[in-house]
Amino acid sequence: MFNIIICKNYEEVSAEAFKVLKEVVVKNETPVLGLATGSSPIGLYKNIQADHKKGYSYSKCITFNLDEYIGIDKNHEQSYWTFMHENLFNHLDVKEENINIPDGNSDNPKQACLDYEEKLNKYEVDLQVLGIGSNGHIGFNEPGTAFDSKTQIVELDEQTRKDNARFFDSIDDVPTHSITMGIESITRAKKIVVIATGENKADAVYGMIKGPVTTDLPASILQRHDNVVVILDNDAASKL
Ligand code: GLP
Repeated sequence: MFNIIICKNYEEVSAEAFKVLKEVVVKNETPVLGLATGSSPIGLYKNIQADHKKGYSYSKCITFNLDEYIGIDKNHEQSYWTFMHENLFNHLDVKEENINIPDGNSDNPKQACLDYEEKLNKYEVDLQVLGIGSNGHIGFNEPGTAFDSKTQIVELDEQTRKDNARFFDSIDDVPTHSITMGIESITRAKKIVVIATGENKADAVYGMIKGPVTTDLPASILQRHDNVVVILDNDAASKL
């Protein structure tokens, strides 16, 4: 079931997403948060930083990130480990041992997936933050991914590599594979908040909400989840 909130700009989108997250954080003794990278949640993360600056402690939070590139060092400027630390963790009091990000540098990535899933299974994610790819992917689960997938190694779609090339010197530098929580791992969360802005997300947003539930558009599985808040700007909502 979707609760759809349409906002006039990115600032409002981020403020609404923050309201959803803060409510969950306040309500739970040890909040477990599923976090995402990408440009969509940056405003949300800024709001969290501001809230912490005002004195609110996030030290009880346990976090799990959706995904990580394979084959770039965790200290690489484009790794999701770096992204999360620069945009959020370096500015909060979340304990480093409570931060979980898939290990894209493991000598044995298959084992890294199993380990991640095992750890994730020990918790119940109270809120999963999601962006959506222009092809409807969630995490790095590209079109065609099975709905019962667990944390896994995936090959990135050409479209996704093109979308993400803006962060690298050239498309050739964009990694070809990543580790991502699977679709089942993601949808086990008690509550999900999807953030999408901009016209290039309008088709994916339409498919997620109004299209058939199909592995061709991974986010469409969210139609079967009973607690999803979708926060959009007018452009992302333009095809609804
Ligand atoms: C990336 C990430 C996703 C993210 C999506 C959208 O490839 N793996 O988790 O949701 O793309 O990114 P953006 O928010 O920058 O549009």
